Amino acid sequence: MLAMSAPIDWPALFQAAERARQAAHAPYSKFKVGAAILTQSGAVVPGTNVENASYGLTVCAERNAIGRMVVDGQRPRAVAIVVDSRTPTPPCGMCRQVLREFGDPAMEVRSRTVSGQEAKWTLGELLPFAFTANDL
Ligand code: THU
Repeated sequence: MLAMSAPIDWPALFQAAERARQAAHAPYSKFKVGAAILTQSGAVVPGTNVENASYGLTVCAERNAIGRMVVDGQRPRAVAIVVDSRTPTPPCGMCRQVLREFGDPAMEVRSRTVSGQEAKWTLGELLPFAFTANDL
């Protein structure tokens, strides 16, 4: 029998990402990013970017959400990102690799601007030929 899973409530996921975005600590770039991970168990885990006066210590919204998800012992099913930009932005390369540590290549990643423009990818499209535990 095929395992059935509930449809993904993208509006709710984007709403959580937008709420997280508003909490961003981005005084240097002023580029606030919100992310929300829907976990395999159906929970929603938010993350936002946290910058630092020592700029290189900045942690992206997606990786902060992943860290929180790991604390909860969860795995990701889908990721939503919200940015205040002209176009929806994909996760940066470092975040793609960290997402791939936990998510499979078929996992959907959607990004939206605050004005509602949307883009979507699979993690496999964002990071083909990923380096994974299988390569060790
Ligand atoms: N940023 C994210 O939070 N996620 C991304 O995928 C791209 C970049 C943040 C990092 C930094 O605080 C700001 O956006 C500008 O790069």
